[in-house]
Amino acid sequence: MQSTISVSANSQQYIDLEDKYGAHNYHPLPVVLSKGEGVFVWDVDNKRYYDFLSGYSAVNQGHRHPKIMEALLQQASQLTLTSRAFYTNVLGEFEKFITQYFGYDKVLPMNTGVEAVETALKLARRWGYDVKKIEENKAKIVVVEDNFHGRTSTVISFSNDPASYKGFGPYTPGFIKIPYNDLAALEKSFQDKDVAGFLFEPIQGEAGVVVPDEGYLSGVRNLCNEYNVLMIADEIQTGLARTGKMLACDHEDVRPDILILGKALSGGTLPVSAVLADDEIMLTIKPGEHGSTYGGNPLACAVGVASLKVLKEEQLAEKAAALGELLRSELKKLNSPFIEAIRGKGLLNAIVIKHKNPEAAWDLCVQLKENGLLAKPTHGDKIRFAPPLIITREQILECVGIIEKSLNTLKD
Ligand SMILES: Cc1ncc(COP(=O)(O)O)c(C=O)c1O
Repeated sequence: MQSTISVSANSQQYIDLEDKYGAHNYHPLPVVLSKGEGVFVWDVDNKRYYDFLSGYSAVNQGHRHPKIMEALLQQASQLTLTSRAFYTNVLGEFEKFITQYFGYDKVLPMNTGVEAVETALKLARRWGYDVKKIEENKAKIVVVEDNFHGRTSTVISFSNDPASYKGFGPYTPGFIKIPYNDLAALEKSFQDKDVAGFLFEPIQGEAGVVVPDEGYLSGVRNLCNEYNVLMIADEIQTGLARTGKMLACDHEDVRPDILILGKALSGGTLPVSAVLADDEIMLTIKPGEHGSTYGGNPLACAVGVASLKVLKEEQLAEKAAALGELLRSELKKLNSPFIEAIRGKGLLNAIVIKHKNPEAAWDLCVQLKENGLLAKPTHGDKIRFAPPLIITREQILECVGIIEKSLNTLKD
């Protein structure tokens, strides 16, 4: 049984609207938000909450960061979309900025995260044929169990979460699935000469913040070098300062061949994603062979540059590293019998709930909401704690107080 939820009549009318007219493809917490600023969001009754989900790490810079908003509004007053049929005075600037920022020859801009993943898969296959000389239509991509890379037909084809794939077949072939954090399995999969790339998350976000062993990322890099396989890092959730470094791959000073970014690339303002790679890979795709009407649009370019600048100017990676340590150590001190595990890096964290009631994590999130903090369970028993990176030390401590108070309402 889920705990009874207090929802105001004002909120309920909006919930009813979504329920009646929207597809039922999400199961939101019963809170109706109408405003956000910094680390906070407000509901329609003007109650304030700490945002501990941050739009699944899209709002690393905080809600409506003034510098990102300024860039957005300024660009909106000039030009918002041309399509890629024409050049603009902002796309090239964005491309120069982001490639120099991450140290790659080229970027291919898209919109949502999953489109960037699709782009990376197409690039890896094309590179496999043109450069590695894999026989046509034979290229394979190695992926890992419990991956989450989005929701398109191809991407769910290699998911092992039934909620993602079941009832949506037939599935796209060409993927080999191996366990995560298992270099021996990776090396074994690379014996197949038709493998073009290895797609993975440096920390598995949706799976419940699963952090691989130290040495995994550099091990992946070495094996990819040895077997001439492209290392494709999906940093859509782990990137952009979230884990205490600009990229999660930076924890082991590893540079992927294809880097996939999304979410916080726009600071939560509009869908902006990007794929970065060097010429040998990127130039295998020729004009007309890939694209998107909105990819690289002027608004996206303007907010992309501003969002990246804020990360460095405000040293958000360093902040995430320090405050993540604080958050995990304070959570440990709570010594709660209901917390089975606390894990994470930087401000990408999760607790695993131990309780005989399978709905306990949901109930706890409802209690957190009542007490002024928004978080959402993932895969039943895990709750992600990922506040905007601009949160302060004092606010983290206050939030741990809210978490403690909420945990105390869980009954044995
Ligand atoms: C690692 C990872 N890849 C891809 C995606 C898909 O991004 P989007 O929802 O913008 O398509 C997500 C979204 O949560 C993600 O966490």
